Amino acid sequence: MKHINTAYQPIEWRGGRVIILDQTRLPHEEVYLELDDYRDVCAAIKELKIRGAPAIGIAGAYAVALGALKIDSKTADDFLKKLQSVIDAVGATRPTARNLFFALERMKKASATKKNISDIKKALVDEALKIHEEEAESTRRISRFGAELIKDGFTILTHCNTGPLATSGSGTALGIIIAAYREGKRIKVLADETRPLLQGARLTTWELQKAGVPVTLITDNMAGSFMRRGKVDCVITGADRITANGDTANKIGTYSVAVLAKAHKIPFYIAAPVSTIDPSLKTGDAIPIEERKAEEVTHIQGVPIAPEGVSAANPAFDVTPHKYITAIITEKGIIRAPYGAGIKGIV
Ligand code: MRU
Repeated sequence: MKHINTAYQPIEWRGGRVIILDQTRLPHEEVYLELDDYRDVCAAIKELKIRGAPAIGIAGAYAVALGALKIDSKTADDFLKKLQSVIDAVGATRPTARNLFFALERMKKASATKKNISDIKKALVDEALKIHEEEAESTRRISRFGAELIKDGFTILTHCNTGPLATSGSGTALGIIIAAYREGKRIKVLADETRPLLQGARLTTWELQKAGVPVTLITDNMAGSFMRRGKVDCVITGADRITANGDTANKIGTYSVAVLAKAHKIPFYIAAPVSTIDPSLKTGDAIPIEERKAEEVTHIQGVPIAPEGVSAANPAFDVTPHKYITAIITEKGIIRAPYGAGIKGIV
């Protein structure tokens, strides 16, 4: 079921259904989808209708709650077995964002806190709502902490989309930018378009326009030129997974921006909640990188731009080694090198 709405609420649990704003239709249409089957939420995550690491985690938790409500079992053992297959299906949607697995681990733990089926179902719905509220609060804190790093008059370059859409809260990198603007700082944003799926062009500019923040859209290959001409004061991006040593996976293209920033002595900040940190992985080499369909590269919005049959690679994320990162902004504070100790301290 669909309805067009002008309000802007990326994901919501309402009356036993999950309502999501379909991000593939933005910026031209605000279409909300009402989903009552966890398989539809899984499809929405895979198809990027709901996307961005924290939002994927929240959607994953709600998907498990939806799946649990529909399980028909006579015994708690049978219920938990069926619940595990729901959790496995949700976990198979997208591999890179740590937040999804953080949420699924919490949902699994919540299922073990009660003995009878109806109590377990209630505990799962409550846990999903709690994850959503906590993640939203984390982004509010990240925005406040990070805004301190932004000076009046700064031009900030960002990559991909990290706003309310990606977090169902205030946003991470974009939350910081919006908070700094609301504090009265006269800032400007350069938004990378973010090929192949154009989250920067379609979503970041849309969110910044709504927030009233001055934004200029650039193609990904313009970033270096703007930096060389002294037009960028700092870079802030989000993260999909941060390892124990501070290496960070984020949208493909982030690594190139980080190397360029270092070459031009421009601070490069990562903003992410603690739920993005994966202390079980020592370095970024161990992060699973999602490989998506070649058509996302050979086509733009369904229109072919390359010869038919040409092969195309499509890794959706890259890893930025920690040596390129000036600081990591979390809801528990700002971490600087050496990252190993800082990350251990907050996780
Ligand atoms: O493939 P996407 O659109 O889910 O990738 C999103 C990003 O890489 C974001 O920059 C990242 O999740 C940080 S979200 C606050």
